Amino acid sequence: MKMFPKDFLWGGATAANQIEGAYLENGKGLSTADVMTLGSHEKKRRITKSVEENEYYPSHNAIDFYHHYKEDIALFAEMGFKVYRMSINWTRIFPNGDELTPNEEGLKFYDAILDELEKYHIIPLVTISHFETPLGLQKYGSWENRDVVDCYIRFALVLLKRYNNRIKYWLTFNEINCMSTQPWVAAGINSDDERVRMTAAYHQFIASAKVVKIAHKINPDNKVGMMYCGHFSYAYSANPDDVIGTMNFMHSMMFYCDVQCRGYYPQYKLKELERLHITLPIQEGDLEILKEGKVDFLSLSYYCTHVTGKKTKGILKGMNGLDTGYKNTFLPKSDWGWTIDPQGLRYALNYLYDRYQLPLMIVENGLGAIDQLEDNKVHDTYRIEYLKAHLKELSKAIEIDGIPVMGYTMWGPIDLIAASTGEMKKRYGFIYVDVDDLGNGSMKRYKKDSFYWYKKVIETNGQIL
Ligand code: BG6
Repeated sequence: MKMFPKDFLWGGATAANQIEGAYLENGKGLSTADVMTLGSHEKKRRITKSVEENEYYPSHNAIDFYHHYKEDIALFAEMGFKVYRMSINWTRIFPNGDELTPNEEGLKFYDAILDELEKYHIIPLVTISHFETPLGLQKYGSWENRDVVDCYIRFALVLLKRYNNRIKYWLTFNEINCMSTQPWVAAGINSDDERVRMTAAYHQFIASAKVVKIAHKINPDNKVGMMYCGHFSYAYSANPDDVIGTMNFMHSMMFYCDVQCRGYYPQYKLKELERLHITLPIQEGDLEILKEGKVDFLSLSYYCTHVTGKKTKGILKGMNGLDTGYKNTFLPKSDWGWTIDPQGLRYALNYLYDRYQLPLMIVENGLGAIDQLEDNKVHDTYRIEYLKAHLKELSKAIEIDGIPVMGYTMWGPIDLIAASTGEMKKRYGFIYVDVDDLGNGSMKRYKKDSFYWYKKVIETNGQIL
């Protein structure tokens, strides 16, 4: 018997720039995602200053959810989704990011999505900013500049007011700790300078805390969470040097959670900033804002774990930002080199709950793999096995360890473009989309074997696991 709470939120998660396409339709402006070219496991995505001719940008078409959303949401409903995590593309609402009034056409698109979700009683969980910073904010230096906090608040306020009583669950920033690993993706920052990154992170913390306060004021029922990119690490060996190296690595990631969950910078981070001669751009009243804007819950993505030790210098390196200099010989890997570690999920949930005692939610977990469509079918046993193993460990975290987990939204329930490489062939979905890395294909949707499996998981509230 697997015991999931009876109101457990089963569902799936996507991000606007990875599914919508229609990159200039109805007044949409360009975002940081729209100038990232196609890459691969071996080739880094290029960031161009503007859209170059003869270059392919995966987000421009993606899976054309913009014109298929009714069909796609109907498929989510058929699987029995209780919740759908989605993001709202900032540049559909404020095309350059700094306008004073929103683009009504952009808002209408999300009105229509909410109509569809409500039709099927699917609860929306909305990420306000998921790797989609307006390119128009580059002229300010993006998140390095405090003015961008105001632009973000203006955007968030429009959403909070317009969708009051329609959206209750909010996430302020997707994977906020990606500021340390992929700052362009997280914040439109193209710099290795730690001072720049830490300034931008500070501004996002202030922006997030302000939104928490505003959201509670607009509607006390609103629940606002943070979203941690699930970097969890084991020490390479029992050598205390490796243990301290791992502690340092985890500090470099956990401080993002510390600030958002506890409402202040942890002492180890303040000491580090002091050593680096980095002064945070603190303004009067900021420390109160951080304290009063603590999040209501902590959400995370979880794909894999790392090994770190004395050799690990600060942050993650490598193509997909996952190379710490060590390999875990106990674990198998996905086709993209990410370790497969279901038990690590139970460890991660315990780690976070021990630290914060906040409700947790897994808002991303899944397997990017190469699928074969044959006779309109995809036999993705490997995906079922991956998800089943993770969900079993999740149930142990709930049953045995007593961790309050609000829900689970599998990452990408429908195939979508990969954030790290821009590829389509790195497929996550329960639903196959007929489109290749270069945007060729019919865009037709097909149900994979995992579609029927996940439907059963939800139907039985996890009993079939
Ligand atoms: C998370 C992001 O980091 O990982 C998603 O929030 C992303 O946007 C997901 O798609 C999986 O990574 P990738 O590179 O396989 O798409």
